Amino acid sequence: MSDTVSVEPSGPLRGELQVPGDKSISHRALICNALAAGEAQISGLLDSADCRSTMACLRQWGVEFEGGQIADDRVVVRSPGQDAFTRAESVLDCGNSGTSIRLLSGVAAGLPFRSEFDGDDSLRQRPMRRVLDPLAQMGAAVSDAETAPYWIDGSAESLRGFRGEIAVASAQVKSCIVFAALRADGPSRIVEPGPSRDHTERILAAMGADIDIDGPAITVRPGAPLQPRDVDVPGDISAAAFWMIAAAMIPGSELRLPNVGVNPRRTGVIDALRSMGAQIELHSQRVMSGEPVADITVRGSRLHPTVIDGDTVVRAVDEIPALAVAAALAGGVTEIRDAAELRVKESDRIAATSTLLRNMGIEVGEWSDGMRIVGGDLRGGSVDSHGDHRLAMTAAIAALAAEQETGPTLIQGASAVDISYPGFWRDLERVRHVLV
Ligand code: S3P
Repeated sequence: MSDTVSVEPSGPLRGELQVPGDKSISHRALICNALAAGEAQISGLLDSADCRSTMACLRQWGVEFEGGQIADDRVVVRSPGQDAFTRAESVLDCGNSGTSIRLLSGVAAGLPFRSEFDGDDSLRQRPMRRVLDPLAQMGAAVSDAETAPYWIDGSAESLRGFRGEIAVASAQVKSCIVFAALRADGPSRIVEPGPSRDHTERILAAMGADIDIDGPAITVRPGAPLQPRDVDVPGDISAAAFWMIAAAMIPGSELRLPNVGVNPRRTGVIDALRSMGAQIELHSQRVMSGEPVADITVRGSRLHPTVIDGDTVVRAVDEIPALAVAAALAGGVTEIRDAAELRVKESDRIAATSTLLRNMGIEVGEWSDGMRIVGGDLRGGSVDSHGDHRLAMTAAIAALAAEQETGPTLIQGASAVDISYPGFWRDLERVRHVLV
């Protein structure tokens, strides 16, 4: 079966779209409730390949999900609690999911048996010493591998608290250490170099964990029992970002995106777009299951260039490829800096985004930690997702914003969207307007 989609340039984007549940919060709602003995209902859960990877691993440790799967974006987690987890009978296959493998490694460090982790070809290329080294420092025995596959011999008895600064601003690394810290024999103080997403800290605190946040430092004191907690997962700002950016760059667009998570550690995309002159309004701001949520309206306008760097990159780490498309249409030069982490995502997103934009007629210079994008006109072309979900969706919005007479864009590897946004191609047809 062909895995290529053809996307025509679009007129203004109009209407309303409910994006699927937040991927990061979905993983945490599943994992944290698995650690607590009892039952909890998760609604608005993202039903995607990555979340199914987390569920499959948890099941191997003895966690049950009512009905065995996600139904209508809802699942009931029934767990014996971390103390009663049993050794997995086979390797824990995390598929394409960096969040699954890194967060579950922290859990594995506190289990009194061996856990073996693996993933697909993309995951096997991603750096894992960033989690294995701190776990070893805490007293877990870990394999000397740089990448998956690897094993962890955990032990609740011999884990020491973690004290120190983590090497990268990464919520996956931070969360891994926090999960291990819950099982250590004393307190941990984890300092992070940048404001990475704090969903783990929020949900664990709500479940009764003894966890304090003081600026960049997180203190975890083990021993407090975790209570199961129902979670209503808000829409994923990383999914909404594709529509925000597409609507912001196509004049005449007006798109409403209700019920989107707007945790301040995730809203770098809004700040970056506003710095380009985009018209974005947040309405009905509220808190849902401990996370800030809003309804977002975006109107199209002409964008101007900007610089995206520092903490904004940490707060928009998954949205940089899509923001690069906005930069491609901004009249002038946009610089993206401090984004070296993009080289070790599901693909090398600096290289892949640069190639994508060049294939569509844009001049792009590459640095080791970013891109210099010369705004111009996007032309329909042929691009490859490299099996990276965010690259497939980035290509799609570039195709929508391409000059009409340059024709459709062919996107190879289109099914990669199933990792985080299985309904993406259907939603694209819902909001696009045929040019006449
Ligand atoms: C995530 C953290 C980020 C992000 C990923 C999801 C998470 O990765 O890119 O898509 O859920 O913790 P890093 O922690 O490696 O920055």
